[in-house]
Amino acid sequence: MSNYHIKHLEEYYQVYRKSVRNPEVFWEEIAEEHFLWRKKWDTVLSWDFSKPEVKWFEGAQLNITENCIDRHLYTRGDKTAIIFEPNNPKEEALHITYKQLHERVCKFANVLKQQGVSKGDRVCVYLPMIPELAIAVLACARIGAIHSVVFAGFSSSALATRINDASCKMVITSDGSFRGAKTIDLKGIVDEALKECECVDTVLVVNRINSDIHMESGRDKWLAPLLEKASGNFKPEIMNAEDPLFILYTSGSTGKPKGMVHTTAGYMVYTAYTFKNVFQYREQDVYWCTADIGWITGHSYIVYGPLCNGATTVMFEGVPSYPEFDRFWEIVEKHKVNQFYTAPTAIRALAKEGVTHLEKHDLSSLKVLGTVGEPINEEAWHWYDDNVGKRKAPIVDTWWQTETGGIMITPIAFATPTKPTYATLPFIGIQPALICENGKEIKGNQVDGRLCIKFPWPSMARTIWGNHERYRDTYFSAYKNMYFTGDGALRDEVGYYRITGRVDDVIIVSGHNLGTAPIEDAINEHPAVAESAIVGVPHDVKGNALFGFVTLKETGEGRNQDNLRKEINQLITEQIGPIAKLDTIQFTNGLPKTRSGKIMRRILRKIASNDVSNLGDISTLLNPEVVEEIIKSVQFK
Ligand code: PRX
Repeated sequence: MSNYHIKHLEEYYQVYRKSVRNPEVFWEEIAEEHFLWRKKWDTVLSWDFSKPEVKWFEGAQLNITENCIDRHLYTRGDKTAIIFEPNNPKEEALHITYKQLHERVCKFANVLKQQGVSKGDRVCVYLPMIPELAIAVLACARIGAIHSVVFAGFSSSALATRINDASCKMVITSDGSFRGAKTIDLKGIVDEALKECECVDTVLVVNRINSDIHMESGRDKWLAPLLEKASGNFKPEIMNAEDPLFILYTSGSTGKPKGMVHTTAGYMVYTAYTFKNVFQYREQDVYWCTADIGWITGHSYIVYGPLCNGATTVMFEGVPSYPEFDRFWEIVEKHKVNQFYTAPTAIRALAKEGVTHLEKHDLSSLKVLGTVGEPINEEAWHWYDDNVGKRKAPIVDTWWQTETGGIMITPIAFATPTKPTYATLPFIGIQPALICENGKEIKGNQVDGRLCIKFPWPSMARTIWGNHERYRDTYFSAYKNMYFTGDGALRDEVGYYRITGRVDDVIIVSGHNLGTAPIEDAINEHPAVAESAIVGVPHDVKGNALFGFVTLKETGEGRNQDNLRKEINQLITEQIGPIAKLDTIQFTNGLPKTRSGKIMRRILRKIASNDVSNLGDISTLLNPEVVEEIIKSVQFK
């Protein structure tokens, strides 16, 4: 057990050294001691970043749900696995024990089988944060189907793209969802999407809001009556270590979303090991991550990591502002939450509402606080530390990505001294490198560069679904023999890392990754639009806000600009979802371009942020005169 729970900094360094000097021996020991295998591996690791190909625990056989559920039945059968806190605080919270979870997952797995889903098939899950979401994911894993969860805030068109890309044969959804004071017609969105998806033959529908919806005969089926008839036992499908477990889409700077493929054994080992250590989870603790299971944070640190450790994990259906801005704190008090993991954007939004919301509640159960998804600014860090953790709960600022599957750079609670805005040290087994523009590694401390990872780790994505070449080009072609993260980082005098943000055209808004290209494509579909460019500008709650520069065709020039703005945002909502709406739309007569026709976003970013004192040399542009024009039009607003 010595390697499993790291308790102080010295131990961290010892274990870290071991993990990088002899990774195979290290991970073999972790895998051997803490998981249930149907068959052990032949080879711990084989890898070649030039292909790229990475395999962990090859030859091993297992089912991840046996690790997440079955093996706890003997020791923790009556322990709560999932606490479900509904959107409406007047609706009772549900406590689902490991035994009940086992039965519900088995029933669901039987339904999936009866409906013709088998090992390797793709199933799209488009559900709100209700227990059925976690259960559906686990049921897929139990039968060996590959789940592709799509965040239920995405539009029908974004959903259709993802369903088609993975050629899913089934969609699991609900009649609707509750979100604060609103209800959302999820099934209507699915119906719209499926007009474009020939691959789907079955839609399973959870009744969540009791609404009268259209059910397409032969295709749509209510889930409840099927579950009622199903057996509560299901022998898990035995999977190979490298069989895909799930696909999860993430935005790239160009092109369509990338379906990141995560495989079974390595993902399980790494998410479980990081969960236990980063949050220092103990047997009686109640852990709450406020993310949605539609994102990687929810996959790894609401479902798989916690359940693999036999933890109690909270699932919250609602939003932090409903019915009041004290909802998070009310839940912490109600369920005596010990570890609380959220996004900087939520912290900033709550900080804005003042501390009176916090003062109404007893937060003394909190032992560890976490953040994820974007850089946390110093002010928000201190607000979190002072008011939520009362300076007693360490903040783990965890840096990682959809692609990395698990937490990569992070403090280990109670072991690593924290430092505001720093994700601090690489997790066990992780070998980061900072690289300068010419591709050379920058050694030593007090330096900055592009963040890469030099050595494989168990939970890294293995490919992009259906497009291995894109996987290679995006992550392994910038620097030889390195995984390139797309982020910039600096290393301080003691070797702590601070993530400085994306160095590509991905903008993180409220913790959500948004590629500029898909948003620009949506805008350009407007008949009056000739061209557009999106940049991010600093925003005190969202981290970044989207600022769009749009040039109109002649036909659009006489049109009312406010109406055009509304129409453009409507198009973005339809194509991607409301999260990608622009805060500001500036119409211009042209966009600054290089002589080869590339839009100079660097200049636009400065103009949008009102930082025009040093625009650099613009004389080499194709159209330097538009820069002055744009500056004027923005300043006149
Ligand atoms: O830019 C980094 C930022 O979020 C990106 C990954 O986004 P996504 O794949 O959606 O996964 C988010 C949840 C793991 C990264 O490339 N990011 C994530 N965590 C941090 C962060 N930036 C700074 N500090 C963090 N703790």
